[in-house]
Amino acid sequence: MITAYDYTTAVLADAAEIPIVLVGDSLGMVVLGHESTIPVTMDDIIHHTKMVARGNKNSLIVADLPFMTYQVDPSEALRNAARLLQEGGAHTVKLEGGENIAPTVRRIVQCDIPVMGHVGVTPQSVNAFGGYRVRGRTAQQASQIVKDALALEEAGAYAVVLELVPAPLSRLISEKLTVPTIGIGAGPDCDGQVQVLHDMLGLFTDFVPRHAKQYANLGQTIRDAFCQYAQEVKDGSFPTTRESFTMDEAILAELED
Ligand code: KIV
Ligand code: NA
Repeated sequence: MITAYDYTTAVLADAAEIPIVLVGDSLGMVVLGHESTIPVTMDDIIHHTKMVARGNKNSLIVADLPFMTYQVDPSEALRNAARLLQEGGAHTVKLEGGENIAPTVRRIVQCDIPVMGHVGVTPQSVNAFGGYRVRGRTAQQASQIVKDALALEEAGAYAVVLELVPAPLSRLISEKLTVPTIGIGAGPDCDGQVQVLHDMLGLFTDFVPRHAKQYANLGQTIRDAFCQYAQEVKDGSFPTTRESFTMDEAILAELED
């Protein structure tokens, strides 16, 4: 699974036969330029899910429910989940939380909207956690994450994302759950993996999380291309006749008179 936020990246993910594309609320940071995922709105996610749905015909498209669009009550959560499918074109939704949100997951799943869970470091809780540090190293945190993952499965979630949890804990949870786990910074023993597109492509340079592997350095490639372009415009080597268009000289001569 990888994230995608627009038509072009959705087409590329489809061509690479990535099974699941996530329109993550990480878009708040890597696309919209916010400092966290907290400011992301339903309209933001719907807008970007539409672009992804237009570009990708084969992957499962999952859209994130943004902060406070599902926490208030299960009926509001259901309505918002439905909007991601009806207006955005997603196939399923993802939300953050465990035992606390299980009744909401059940309500949405009962109305035939498949739900992916997300436990461990849940970025919408950044203000409560005080950062994005690994969770689950203490006995209390580890047992809570196990309970949360089990509660999500029990409530009907079809998969659970494990974000920034120690690898041995992910392995334990992956063994305990019947539904697949999908890890990010959660070690090799999850059933699947997810990466944020901008991190794996080296596009987001504000910071590079340790759990991200850069499969390309597009940030550098793009900067180099921009510099070369600007230089060639300045020194007159771009554009040439090759990138230009001719016209009938007689018409031009008339204009000059
Ligand atoms: O928003 C996102 O990109 C995510 C993934 C990191 C799982 O939720
Ligand atoms: Na997210």
